Amino acid sequence: MSEPHISNRKQDHIDLCTDDHVEFKHKTTLLKEVELMHDALPELALGDVDLSTHLAGHPLDVPLLITGMTGGANQATDINRELARVAQELGLAFGLGSQRAMFVHPELIPTYQVRDVAPDIVLLGNIGMVQATEMTTAQLEDVVGAVDANALCVHLNPGQELLQPEGDRDFSGCLDALARLVDELSVPVIAKETGCGLSARTLDKLVSAGVEHVDTSGAGGTTWIGVETLRTPAAERSLGEMLWEWGVPTAASIGYASRRNLGIIGSGGLRNGYDAVRALAMGAHVAGMALPWLKAAHEGGAEQALAYGQGLISSMRTIMTLTGSRDINALQRAPRMHGPNLERWLKLDDH
Ligand code: FNR
Repeated sequence: MSEPHISNRKQDHIDLCTDDHVEFKHKTTLLKEVELMHDALPELALGDVDLSTHLAGHPLDVPLLITGMTGGANQATDINRELARVAQELGLAFGLGSQRAMFVHPELIPTYQVRDVAPDIVLLGNIGMVQATEMTTAQLEDVVGAVDANALCVHLNPGQELLQPEGDRDFSGCLDALARLVDELSVPVIAKETGCGLSARTLDKLVSAGVEHVDTSGAGGTTWIGVETLRTPAAERSLGEMLWEWGVPTAASIGYASRRNLGIIGSGGLRNGYDAVRALAMGAHVAGMALPWLKAAHEGGAEQALAYGQGLISSMRTIMTLTGSRDINALQRAPRMHGPNLERWLKLDDH
């Protein structure tokens, strides 16, 4: 990979995600197949709803995460700082984009630093799986320390890499590296997909490596196979166009993870408070979103992002009240129905 181009690529990603269509065209998250039962006698006040949860061992007031997007590019500093400020104000968690660029070019470290504007948030660092495999634990400890992160997301993105002309091609040795990091790193490790979802089989491998926290980043929202396809010259797009819909729908991925006693961030294609509540009902402890936050910050800065976050929280409270759920535990026990496609996906994991 040609290192000097990392910043350009990061800026390309931001530009494509704000200006182009980078989402699945046909496949959905299947969250719409999660029907929550109405309770006409909820016996609780809207203000009684307790949204508190935990993320990688840290308490969180609101079960929402702005999942990792950026760092290392022109616009990254502003985006990271604006969204981190919103996270601080609303009590959300915030994830940084891949820190590879700052590892290779230490002068880019400030594009990731947000602690001065967000001293209290649960902050997640981020590095690619293949890079993590090649780095020592001490180097990764430095990556985490440089931004004062509370946990490290290791992103699994073979789909994106294989479609990226300059991307990685060898994904062997990753499980051993994960096991080493879980064992040696001073902060928790979160294994995170980037829009193709974690299957039951992948989750079993993660559990075997000792991983305790996952971010499903399932199919149905932003597709990174799609983003890389759009970065490819038009005449060379056939592989990416063929695989545009590749991945495990988010609702199925959360369902698989919930059967494995993991700390779960449910993400990938969540767009509103209803999606977030459905993800929590399926077993997630935190609901994560990326693209809507980027768009809000891009269109209207911190003000629009703050309004988006307030809308999410207020709709989540409303829906939890309508299901008679005082907290997330109660929501997960409340009656719900799954549509036929989701049931078919979930059946693939019947032992
Ligand atoms: C991302 N995502 C991402 N993930 C990651 O682990 N490291 C990264 O550097 C990035 N970079 C990145 C840039 C931009 C502009 C976007 C929109 C997204 C993936 C992201 O965290 C998330 O997993 C997917 O985008 C799916 O969620 P949404 O966008 O459908 O809510």
